[in-house]
Amino acid sequence: MKIAIINGPNLNLLGIREPGIYGNSSFEAFLEKLPSLFPGVEFTYFQSNIEGELVTELQRVGFEYTGIVLNPAAYTHTSVAIGDAIAAIATPVVEVHISNVHAREEFRKISHVSAKAKGTICGLGMKGYELAIHWLVAQAGGLYQ
Ligand code: DQA
Repeated sequence: MKIAIINGPNLNLLGIREPGIYGNSSFEAFLEKLPSLFPGVEFTYFQSNIEGELVTELQRVGFEYTGIVLNPAAYTHTSVAIGDAIAAIATPVVEVHISNVHAREEFRKISHVSAKAKGTICGLGMKGYELAIHWLVAQAGGLYQ
């Protein structure tokens, strides 16, 4: 079973970037925990600060993988292309935001992704990624059997 984790712009700076909002740990530290949390799941991780690269990666994994965990970061609020890419692919996508976007600026309440994703998790910190993976594995029949 293959799960892709895709992070958008500025998420390469997790742990350094606005720690009061996004926490103190790097994404690499989170990735290290995954094999023991989800044995048997093969993970790929892709991060880009460039919108088109995120679209290309969604297309690459979107017909073959079991699930995609996507944090489009600021492109959530602006990118019709990323929303269209999610609609175009076959693999289910769970949208994740570390912060509670509904408790911040007005522009963060708009998402071009949420309506195309299976579901959205926001405001639960890095734990949101773990919960998204859990759901993707479960819906593929990999848990509770
Ligand atoms: C974010 C929320 C976005 O509004 C913001 O632009 C980000 C990160 C989050 O994970 O909370 O870069 O997606």
